[in-house]
Amino acid sequence: MSPALAGLAYLIAAVCFIVALKALSSPKRARLGNAVGAVGALIAVAVVFAVERPDNLWLILAALGVGAAIGVFAAQKVAMTAMPQMVAIFNGLGGAAGAIVALLELGGATQATPIGQLAVAGFTILVGAVAFSGSMIAYARLQELLTGRPLIFPGMRWLFSGLLAAALVTGAWIPFGAPFWVALALTAASVVIGVLFVLPVGGADVPIVIALLNAFSGITVAAGGYVLGNSLLIVAGTLVGASGILLTQLMAKAMGRPLLNILFGAFAGGSTLGATTVSARPVRSAAPEDIAIQLGFARRVIIAPGYGLAVAQAQHALRDLADELQKRGVEVLYAIHPVAGRMPGHMNVLLAEADIPYRALKEMDEINPEFRTTDVALVVGANDVVNPAARTESGSPIYGMPILAADEAQAVVFLKRSMRPGFAGIENELLHDPKTTLLFGDAKDSLRKLAAAVKAL
Ligand code: TAP
Repeated sequence: MSPALAGLAYLIAAVCFIVALKALSSPKRARLGNAVGAVGALIAVAVVFAVERPDNLWLILAALGVGAAIGVFAAQKVAMTAMPQMVAIFNGLGGAAGAIVALLELGGATQATPIGQLAVAGFTILVGAVAFSGSMIAYARLQELLTGRPLIFPGMRWLFSGLLAAALVTGAWIPFGAPFWVALALTAASVVIGVLFVLPVGGADVPIVIALLNAFSGITVAAGGYVLGNSLLIVAGTLVGASGILLTQLMAKAMGRPLLNILFGAFAGGSTLGATTVSARPVRSAAPEDIAIQLGFARRVIIAPGYGLAVAQAQHALRDLADELQKRGVEVLYAIHPVAGRMPGHMNVLLAEADIPYRALKEMDEINPEFRTTDVALVVGANDVVNPAARTESGSPIYGMPILAADEAQAVVFLKRSMRPGFAGIENELLHDPKTTLLFGDAKDSLRKLAAAVKAL
């Protein structure tokens, strides 16, 4: 394949990536976006084989086959609630791949290797290794292999700062003919920096760190593209890096917390996760038949879905209940909080699976003024995103997070299994409000009972 043709193919692949990103931002076109992105990646890989004619072709193809098989299997098997963990692993491996490529390039560097290329290789090792080890710790956190509480030990801040300084010094030495062991030392220091970077972050903030590490892996790929002289890697890496940084900012904003507080809050002595307490105070609970009357005779019901809906896989049961209510002339809307669930867009994806129309899904700012004129706010497996402590308790880990104004509805119904708190580990005063009723049980089971009871009205 001629260089001009390869350049054209790379351009097409780059356009595919940009079009894919654009399409992924709309639920209607997300599937198409995914497919376009995959075509771009396929073109990119095919061009590498056509241009480079690599040695060890069979070994490379075998590795590709094994990687693809694992990827297909993992993507099909993963539960939607475990998606952030999978993203963490993929980010980490991307970072590790970039760091290894840079190490190999440094190992083969000669006097003639341009100084800029050596400098970027050092940078790639630093960011890639941090993305790798940080992502592995984030994975262990979300998979509950490690505690969700911030992990700090005496002197951690100094160890982190010292290692970062050492990494910057060794990184700065690399372009000036440092021996290869310096690159290896930089790799080791960067791996430990990644671990120390993520350990102090509280469990509720880990998905934000994953978005940031995603940006790091993108930056690693872009820098690796410079080292290898591959323009498509530069474009793809920059896209991933930029979108990761934007997503990080959006998530931090939706949680009402400055990014620096999320990353270094525990270093500064503050906890980013509340104590997990189970309240023993009395609450009002009712039978499905009683709640069905409340819902069935309402003019408008706003459903606030949360993480528990995903755990129970109750999206279809929710749709059935909404259908029964709508048959009776009840207006049903869905209030979507930007960080409900455990990943961006979690609720949109879940509700779309049950063919709930997009027009019924309302963003937080749009729906909040409507709660005041709503008869029942039905909170399904959500907790933190409707917790008024976010408005009033300055010491609370969720203080400042904008919430759904479910407490302003005439009546509130919670579907949950117990009095256990949500992800932030704090009590929710709304559960004890006189206008609140609880229906205890698994969300799918409760929704089925409610749908049957509304039908029987
Ligand atoms: P949570 O506050 O975690 O509450 C989930 C609720 O679901 C709990 O009260 C739990 O109570 C209930 N639940 C769990 N399994 C259930 C089941 N099978 N049936 C019925 N109920 C069930 O969820 P949320 O309100 O969606 O808030 C999301 C949290 O994640 C926030 O703190 C947010 O900041 C954090 N977070 C989200 C993101 C993104 S991007 N979405 C990123 C970072 C952090 P029981 O155990 O008593 O049933």
